[in-house]
Amino acid sequence: MNEEPEYPTPGGVERRSMTTEESATAGRRWWDGAADAYQFEHGDFLRDVGFVWSPEGVDEARARLLGDVAGARILEIGCGAGQCSRWLRDQGVGEVVAFDVSLRQLQHSRRIDEQTGLRVPTVQADVQRLPFADASFDVAFSAFGAFPFVPAAEAALAETARVLKPGGRFVFSVTHPIRWCFPDDPTEHGMTLRQSYFDRRAYVEEDEHGRALYAEHHHTVGDWIRGLVAAGLVVRDMVEPEWPEDNDQVWGGWGPVRGRVLPGTAIFVTTRP
Ligand SMILES: C[S@@+](CC[C@H](N)C(=O)[O-])C[C@H]1O[C@@H](n2cnc3c(N)ncnc32)[C@H](O)[C@@H]1O
Repeated sequence: MNEEPEYPTPGGVERRSMTTEESATAGRRWWDGAADAYQFEHGDFLRDVGFVWSPEGVDEARARLLGDVAGARILEIGCGAGQCSRWLRDQGVGEVVAFDVSLRQLQHSRRIDEQTGLRVPTVQADVQRLPFADASFDVAFSAFGAFPFVPAAEAALAETARVLKPGGRFVFSVTHPIRWCFPDDPTEHGMTLRQSYFDRRAYVEEDEHGRALYAEHHHTVGDWIRGLVAAGLVVRDMVEPEWPEDNDQVWGGWGPVRGRVLPGTAIFVTTRP
């Protein structure tokens, strides 16, 4: 990629309700259209063979939230260009399968496979309907993949629990629920509460005809916990990473100014009994 690719430009931004179907259509189209710009902008921070959980820079090499993965069969949900799975492959884990709804993201994964010589097996799929058998993975994880982008988070969590073996582990990072009260602005201007924490309507970027181009869905802490418990999972930890002194990277609404006083990310660590 030599020339700087651009993100799709929205005509406006709304908080509104939307159907699962409208959200899924917008999501796939947006990620296909945005993948080049996303990888161009964030590729260095993510690293081709690197496992970063969040814009705070939480790195699995140190955090070890997945526990002992030696010999494990692992599923990555919403893998983008597969950087996390490629890191796991490099660590010599048993087997990794990664999936994403966006073909263009998976094409970037293939490009990096060729550049690094470390191949990540990928599947194009939607977290809401997984093409995997029951109880087929020891570990499932997602680093900001898929879960912020589905309205019916409960159903996606249940679908993930279905493919996890008893005794398996599921870890995922999402936008911290408190973040939806504030504008998508990581500076001092983003410090003023603008929206009710209890407003579950989606954040939607629309084109000039009011069609959704991009959507993110807000779930409260209680919604996530309830969804995990309903899926039969046990919550072991909820990590709220603090902004490290040495990270001056701004990523959308995440950055050092707001990051020092407000959490931007929640990482849920769960197991299936
Ligand atoms: C913010 S990226 C995170 C990916 C990767 N962990 C990274 O840090 O680049 C979110 C990814 O989730 C994928 N995604 C969104 N909705 C999805 C869905 N319903 N099912 C599967 N993947 C989805 C997007 O295509 C995108 O690649």
